[in-house]
Amino acid sequence: MSKFKNNTAIVTGGGKGIGQAIARRFAEEGAKVAIWEADEIAGEETTQEILTKGQEAHFFKCDITDEGSIQNALSGVSEKFGTPDILINNAGIANVGTATTTSVEDFDKVMEVNAKGMFLCLRNIIPTMIEKKSGVILNLASIASRLGIADRFAYSASKGAVLAMTLSVARDYVDHGIRCNCVCPGRVHTPFVDGFLKKYYPDENKRNEKFDELSKYQPIGRMGEPHEIANIASFLCSSDASFITGGAYDIDGGVMSLK
Ligand SMILES: NC(=O)c1ccc[n+]([C@@H]2O[C@H](COP(=O)([O-])OP(=O)(O)OC[C@H]3O[C@@H](n4cnc5c(N)ncnc54)[C@H](O)[C@@H]3O)[C@@H](O)[C@H]2O)c1
Repeated sequence: MSKFKNNTAIVTGGGKGIGQAIARRFAEEGAKVAIWEADEIAGEETTQEILTKGQEAHFFKCDITDEGSIQNALSGVSEKFGTPDILINNAGIANVGTATTTSVEDFDKVMEVNAKGMFLCLRNIIPTMIEKKSGVILNLASIASRLGIADRFAYSASKGAVLAMTLSVARDYVDHGIRCNCVCPGRVHTPFVDGFLKKYYPDENKRNEKFDELSKYQPIGRMGEPHEIANIASFLCSSDASFITGGAYDIDGGVMSLK
């Protein structure tokens, strides 16, 4: 309960999936959690669930592709909880396609959320951390940042950018007491995966087959669970990881090392 006592943590996309699991975990461990969500219902529901347990959270409606929306949410966090100690850059979207089948519009959209949205959060939140001379940032990259995944051209481009931004931020702010790392998950069973399956495999049998195939892609034989990403997020953002910055951590059921 006391791991993140007196810490304010912003979790972008904290209403669902991995972000929700991280928001829950950090609140359990004593953080004041600011859930930044574009989906109002998901943001409110997750916040209410945390409050019901007697823990601290607040929902801020925020679209990370809109700098004005980020600035509003950030001043709300400062008023409600104080300046942020931890930033979890988690919000992201998926896309399927190769370099020749991806539309220009889809490429722009994926880069706008996954890469530019993350940049806008960094651009606005890092100055508050510089002022305090401390802060921890954790970015959600992917195995797609590090190896070729079939049919994920735009998504991979955006997650490559996340890995590069992690290294750049870790380098630029190491002298300001700011640590920055990223995690590179394999497939994790979240609404992100269910949404993708529903969109691209409307037939239920085909969808179940694809679910099995996606599960077996991980040598461990299944998809990850959101709380398994929250486990490593909790470690990397805590003082137990005080010597770790500029790291990219595979949490992928063995994909990177055993394939
Ligand atoms: N699920 C996986 O297999 C997997 C694997 C590797 C990396 N990741 C990454 O982890 C992160 C979370 O994935 P997830 O599976 O939990 O996704 P999800 O779709 O289940 O949840 C993402 C959340 O982000 C929010 N969001 C999307 N765009 C936003 C915006 N512009 N502003 C604010 N909020 C926004 C959504 O409303 C949603 O609640 C993503 O960055 C994703 O790329 C996921």
